[in-house]
Amino acid sequence: MQIFIDSADVSEIKRAAETGNCDGVTTNPSLIMKAGRDYNETLKEICSIVKGPVSAETVSLDADGMVKEGIAFSKIAKNIVVKVPMTVEGMKACQRLTKKGIRVNVTLVFSANQALLAAKSGAFIVSPFVGRLDDISQPGMELVKDIKLIYDNYKFTTQILVASVRNPIHVLDAAKIGADIATVPYSVFEQLFKHSLTDVGIKKFLEDWEKVPKRK
Ligand code: G3P
Repeated sequence: MQIFIDSADVSEIKRAAETGNCDGVTTNPSLIMKAGRDYNETLKEICSIVKGPVSAETVSLDADGMVKEGIAFSKIAKNIVVKVPMTVEGMKACQRLTKKGIRVNVTLVFSANQALLAAKSGAFIVSPFVGRLDDISQPGMELVKDIKLIYDNYKFTTQILVASVRNPIHVLDAAKIGADIATVPYSVFEQLFKHSLTDVGIKKFLEDWEKVPKRK
């Protein structure tokens, strides 16, 4: 499973990339607002750090506007993927951008039928938001299971990207289901490396190493 960083913070993205475990990046208007920088400039910098897919989100509500924004984003770098929302206009834009050879990530997906339509519209990536479903007491991972089943049934090549990840259990569940990608906040990315017994083990090995007789 690929792991993407869900962030527009360049320093976080650099740190994640240095580990060799960051396969791509997803951004959105809320994340760029948090970063407090110009969106295009930030995307350009991110694309120079991470060679995998970097999602850039459109903000227009009509297909024409989304296509226009998508074309402009695609000129920033080869690895840009254009994010459009799961709406009727979004699906029109998805088809038009896909026909132009621009890869599309359909975002804000909360039902399996929406994911089916995204795949039929030629989406490169579909983004079910598991955390926001969990927040309203609907199990987000059940949606991922349903999408996986439907895509396998019809051999859709659209990649399932588990978004709105809140903790390492989401990542584990996504991998067990066979999702293609999980996009994670940097805090969750860091947690994936850690286990308290690893720290205890390192400490004990170092303590014992100090007691090993060494030739001068
Ligand atoms: O990239 C979109 C998604 O991951 C948003 O997550 O935490 O705002 O629900 P969140």
